[in-house]
Amino acid sequence: MSIQRSFARSVVACAVGSLFAVGGALAGEVEVLHWWTSGGEAKSVVELKKILETKGHKWKDFAVAGGGGENAMTVLKSRVVSGKPPTAAQVKGPSIQEWGAEGVLTQMDGVSKAGNWDGLLPAVVSNVMKYQGHYVAVPVNVHRVNWMWANPEVFKKAGAKIPTTWDEFAVAAEKIQKAGFVAVAHGGQPWQDATVFESVALGVGGADWFNKAFVKLDTGALNSPTMEKSFATLRTVQKYIDKDAANRDWNLATAMVINGKAAMQFMGDWAKGEFTAANKAPGKDYICAPAPGTAGAFTFNIDSFIMFEQKDPEAKKAQADLAAAIMEPQFQEVFNLNKGSIPARSGMDMAKFDQCAKDSTSEFQSSSKSGKLVPSWAHGMAMPSAVQGAMFDVVTQFMNSNMSPKDAAAKMAAAVKAKG
Ligand code: GAL
Repeated sequence: MSIQRSFARSVVACAVGSLFAVGGALAGEVEVLHWWTSGGEAKSVVELKKILETKGHKWKDFAVAGGGGENAMTVLKSRVVSGKPPTAAQVKGPSIQEWGAEGVLTQMDGVSKAGNWDGLLPAVVSNVMKYQGHYVAVPVNVHRVNWMWANPEVFKKAGAKIPTTWDEFAVAAEKIQKAGFVAVAHGGQPWQDATVFESVALGVGGADWFNKAFVKLDTGALNSPTMEKSFATLRTVQKYIDKDAANRDWNLATAMVINGKAAMQFMGDWAKGEFTAANKAPGKDYICAPAPGTAGAFTFNIDSFIMFEQKDPEAKKAQADLAAAIMEPQFQEVFNLNKGSIPARSGMDMAKFDQCAKDSTSEFQSSSKSGKLVPSWAHGMAMPSAVQGAMFDVVTQFMNSNMSPKDAAAKMAAAVKAKG
């Protein structure tokens, strides 16, 4: 055989080999936009990358830092406008509908039917993932937002009790501050302000009012004594935030609780991902408890990936493989063990999960029966993004001025009128 012919043969063999490297699959590159850059979040992303690579595809990381994802969404819009969307992007809640309406998303009918997604996902999850009846997004988890993360050592040193109401909170925070600790670890960023306010409002007003105000956007519920009381309570919480909070990232606030500098943080359970990454054990090194007044209620935040339409068959295959892999039980387990959330897929074995995740799972189920399962508006699950942005502005203005609770309540209603 001539050298040329044997060379040509081995080139063909190599090409065929790599094309069918994993179970005869086409190997494609998947570019994934996300904002998971903190310690716990980054560990979770690694699991996503690994599962894609086991299918023989290549991961192209497109991380845009900034908790809550505002920066990531701005970057995503400009990429899509310039005709270069990523393969997949972390997009949640009603924004999935907004992207669906743009006509740029892949309908995942084949993968979702083959994987029985309708049978595996609770309706509260699957409804969010569909545009006009077709799956256009795939869920990785369910986060609970109305949590309080507490350092029991700090509480003990201050002689304070873990609060279950906002009145008890004020008593505990006062003692903690007097004992020389930061009572509330917080970062002054609009989405963090909204996250705290959302839990305060749920604790003050309850789930029915919360739904009327933040889901139905009812003017009477928005501009109401309950909203005023919620803002007045936020003022109290604010008294116990330290002077250096402006623009602090959420994970640095969590680190203050981990290190015993601060007593508590009001944040969704991605904060637990930070405790886990720091090898801390719940019930011993830290306490997870519902934010005051919110026991039995659950503000849900479902992380999901939307998939943008692809032309290239390899990219299409890689995208479908990623979607299918996300729904596999192995992935839903390992990802959520790191992320602090619970699996989106129902019927999962929770043996490896800690008590906080087990509590979250049972509260998710019981709150869906009691009517206390509500979407997190601070995390883009409840309302159009423009209205959400307008509400963020009101809460942040309130936090950075001496606006009265009465004016703030009126401005919440006006925000909806202007953007709704
Ligand atoms: C949320 C997101 C979480 C977490 C958090 C902080 O909006 O759903 O997964 O990453 O932001 O970055």
